[in-house]
Amino acid sequence: MRVVVTGAAGQLGQDVLKELSRKNHEAFGADRTQLDITNESNVQAYINDVKPDVILHCAAYTNVDAGEENEDIAYQVNAVGTENLAKAAKQVGAKVLCVSTDYVFDGTGSEPYEVDAPTKPLGAYGRTKLAGEQLLQENLEQFFIVRTAWVFGVHGNNFVKTMLRLGEERGVVGVVHDQVGSPTYTVDLAKFMVELMETNKYGIYHATNSGVCSWYEFAVEIFKQAGLNVKVNPLTTEQFPRPAARPKYSVLSKKKIEEQGLTPLRDWKAALSAYLEESGR
Ligand SMILES: NC(=O)c1ccc[n+]([C@@H]2O[C@H](COP(=O)([O-])OP(=O)(O)OC[C@H]3O[C@@H](n4cnc5c(N)ncnc54)[C@H](OP(=O)(O)O)[C@@H]3O)[C@@H](O)[C@H]2O)c1
Repeated sequence: MRVVVTGAAGQLGQDVLKELSRKNHEAFGADRTQLDITNESNVQAYINDVKPDVILHCAAYTNVDAGEENEDIAYQVNAVGTENLAKAAKQVGAKVLCVSTDYVFDGTGSEPYEVDAPTKPLGAYGRTKLAGEQLLQENLEQFFIVRTAWVFGVHGNNFVKTMLRLGEERGVVGVVHDQVGSPTYTVDLAKFMVELMETNKYGIYHATNSGVCSWYEFAVEIFKQAGLNVKVNPLTTEQFPRPAARPKYSVLSKKKIEEQGLTPLRDWKAALSAYLEESGR
């Protein structure tokens, strides 16, 4: 298939390109300089030129805290950018797979969120990503929305890298223990995205690695697997205030993946081990 990847220089985009090449798809990776998704005419021209079968939409405004002060910019990228892609895709008959987030939920639940659970974002990032989901659905029938969470990959700045750096520098770190979710390795998510885009099983999916942990438990496991002797102090969310509120419980139910006969992502600890090996640790 001919596949355009937006946000191709990002953490997920780079692993998606690798997976497409592994599966012998014809990939067109577009970073922001080649395809600014907020520029409607740029998007129309690029998509009309390439005429892809699928757009794997990995570009986003991802700075959750800065988004609180810059909601207009986040909206342009996450909502209007997605709408531009949906309209351009419709003209050439392409499918769109848009990556979204657990932050569309408020995290007050206590059971894994199903794909049709009511949404209620706590902050600007979640609001703008949800607006993108809605604009995609309004403008295109052939869509996939893949909500993911706690993403880590070798090409990005992420929690695993931050923990390893702080642990090595300080020997002690404080990490919140009252927010739980499921980590997601970009390599595993990329595999799922490519498997899904090859089907016509349209709709909303939740895709993270399997298993559940708190950020504190994630940090403890990172140091254990990396063989680093670092003391991890559990903190409450109140002890570690951030500009944007985070959902306390953001576990996503992966039931739909199994129902549709697709391949579930492996356990997060095995994924972390593969990530550490890929990073040469
Ligand atoms: N990271 C997480 O923990 C997480 C969790 C849940 C969901 N997600 C979702 O997963 C997807 C991939 O995230 P990621 O971790 O790969 O983020 P990332 O590394 O920040 O990649 C996003 C990419 O989008 C690009 N971009 C920003 N504005 C653009 C524009 N106007 N036009 C074209 N490209 C633009 C960025 O370019 P610049 O670097 O030049 O800005 C960056 O390369 C996103 O949809 C994100 O919302 C991520």
